[in-house]
Order: sequence, then structure tokens, then C-alpha cells
Amino acid sequence: MLNLLKHPLLTHKLTHLRKKETSTKEFRETLEEIAGLMAYEITRDLPLKNITVETPMGKCNTQELAKDVVLVPVLRAGLGMVDGISNLIPTARVGHIGMYRDHQTLEPKTYYCKFPENLPDAVVMVLDPMLATGGSASAAISFIKEQGAKTIKLVCVVGAPRGVEKVMKDHPDVQIYLAGLDEKLNDTGYIVPGLGDAGDRLFGTK
Ligand code: PRP
Ligand code: URA
Repeated sequence: MLNLLKHPLLTHKLTHLRKKETSTKEFRETLEEIAGLMAYEITRDLPLKNITVETPMGKCNTQELAKDVVLVPVLRAGLGMVDGISNLIPTARVGHIGMYRDHQTLEPKTYYCKFPENLPDAVVMVLDPMLATGGSASAAISFIKEQGAKTIKLVCVVGAPRGVEKVMKDHPDVQIYLAGLDEKLNDTGYIVPGLGDAGDRLFGTK
């Protein structure tokens, strides 16, 4: 269920995101672009339904998306992926889930959530640039399932093997999408080489 997306533009932009000299402004812009490029690949299997429309020339039997899309960014860093995807899918509604990792235990703590009512019937994309231990993503997915979501895609930018394994074990029904799969975690749970603290780099807090 792991999909490692390998488009040259994605790889190029991910390299820019990783560089420590990339400014907050560039980080924000590049993360948004990466999310948009990933969305293009991730939405390949969205179901379509038949409809008929009137063009200026007459009737046209055509198709449109059959299901709603709901984006659920994991606060904070997931917020940086919303605009890139909603630019492509303007009808997508957005839910929010607030989580942070306890720095000692690395356990995720949930502090906020608000979801649109169409969650159970929608294709739900959970957005978070970083998949490290997988604790946050797995807990977010469990929570979203408790709200009735049935079709869930996890969209991260950089992942580590430990996080991928955890989500695959806890949620074998969820497709995982990454632009980069890195080697390991360090002693404090950061992805190496990764890109550092995504939330801090996105919002310029450190
Ligand atoms: C980061 C990141 C993920 C989580 C990944 O958030 O955005 O949510 O860590 O780590 P995990 O896979 O080990 O759970 P963080 O907890 O730093 O919160 P923040 O976005 O508010 O900075
Ligand atoms: N969260 C981040 O922002 N970066 C990491 O490398 C791991 C967790």
C-alpha cells in the first residue's frame, strides 16, 4: 500500500525543500507545489460518473468526479499542503486535526478536531509532510475512521521506514503516498536526512 512517487519535478522540488538554506517563504511555496504535484498522481484512481452537459454546440455525454474529496491536514505542518491540492480540487472540503508529538515519549497528543459532515462518503486525504514514527498519522487515521471515514489516503512528503511500517500494520486498508523515503530516525525521532522540523520551517517559528 506504499506509493513512492518519482516524478522528476517532485524530486527536484523535494531537494529544494530539504536544503537548510531554503527560506521560510520558499519552503511554504515549494511545499504547496509539491502537494499539488502529488495530488495529480494520487487522484488517478478517483471514480467518475456519467453526466450530460450542454455545450454551446449541443449535448455532450461526459463524466465528472463521483465522490466528494475531503482534505484533513494534521496541524500544524499539514496546513502547508492544503492550498496546493485545493487549487486542483476546489470543491474539496477541509477538516482539521490538531496533534503534536510529546518530545519525551514521541506519543501523539490530539488537541483539536473539526470535520465536514460528508466525511463518511468522501475520499479523505490526510495531509502531513512528515511520517517519522508513524504515531501521529496512525492516530489521525484511527480518529478519522471513528468519525465514519471509509476511503482514506495518507499523503506525506518524506517518510521513514518505521513510520511506513506502523501505518501499514495499523491501517492495511490505507494507501500511503510519499515523495521521498529516507533512511532512518535519529535519537530524538527526526527523519535523517529528512528536512528538519517541518512545522517550524513552514511557519518560521525557529
Ligand atoms: C510533526 C509532523 C507530524 C509528526 C510526525 O509534527 O508534522 O505530525 O511530527 O512524527 P511521527 O510520525 O513520529 O508522529 P509535530 O509533532 O512536530 O507538531 P507541529 O506540526 O505542531 O510542529
Ligand atoms: N516531525 C518533523 O517535523 N520532522 C521530522 O523529521 C520528524 C517529525
